Amino acid sequence: MITTKSITNLKKLVKKVKKTGKTIGFVPTMGALHEGHLSLIDRAKKESNYLIVSIFINPLQFSPSEDFKRYPRNIKIDKKTLKEKKVNLLFYPQTDKIYNPDFSTFVEETKLSKKLCGKSRPGHFKGVTTVITKLFNIINPDLSYFGQKDYQQALIIKKIVRDLNFAVKIKIAPTIREKDGLALSSRNLYLSQKERKESKSIYQALLQAKQMIKNNEKNPKKIINQINKIMVSNSTASIDYIAIRDANNLEEIKEIKGKVFIGIAAYFDSLNGEAAGKTRLIDNIIVES
Ligand code: PAF
Repeated sequence: MITTKSITNLKKLVKKVKKTGKTIGFVPTMGALHEGHLSLIDRAKKESNYLIVSIFINPLQFSPSEDFKRYPRNIKIDKKTLKEKKVNLLFYPQTDKIYNPDFSTFVEETKLSKKLCGKSRPGHFKGVTTVITKLFNIINPDLSYFGQKDYQQALIIKKIVRDLNFAVKIKIAPTIREKDGLALSSRNLYLSQKERKESKSIYQALLQAKQMIKNNEKNPKKIINQINKIMVSNSTASIDYIAIRDANNLEEIKEIKGKVFIGIAAYFDSLNGEAAGKTRLIDNIIVES
């Protein structure tokens, strides 16, 4: 596996690979790799001839009150994992090489990014779309892979690709879960034992919602109430949102119809019911009615 921190070097390597006619698959990450990332890597490996993974903890997508400083950093282990996975190239840039001190250009999707997670994390998606635009410009991949756990992020990236004519195909891969259903996330490492136990209620609530739809419940409000009940009685988490939306555009719906997104965001480690913002977990399922 080639490892490079240099944008110039990476561009040269990509040029060489492109000349051979190989398709480039790209998996952007912030490191602390887990099975969720590895499933993206496995899929990318199958569908492309040359695989690039980036590890870059993007400061632009964290607000000052968020967990940028304590975000898990495991570069040694990550490198070993990527080598074992036979990734061709690891791009591991330094922050000041991605963002010059006088950096002042941003990429922002302005509709989808204002909903759900965008409401509680203002500026987050602008940070994501800016860094992804930069990475796509540097790497020019044919295919790029994102997890369904961050469904809103994946939809927004699909949107900027369409709106800005990037020549990359975006693939969304299924969420990978722990045995008890908790969606894998680097942030799960923050959970105490008690919170870890409680956190399985997120997926249990999502499954209950799915069952209600299978039983022909058409009223999103009733389903949201039921999810809320499950979350409240099984955890001390404070809920950021419970949402049932049109899965294509995350617009609100009055009736369950077609492909729907059911999403939950909750803060664990909350103090007296008040969101301390310590560990924010998100999860979702897509249900066809
Ligand atoms: O999902 C993530 O890990 C990040 O948001 C991403 C896509 C790597 C951009 O920094």
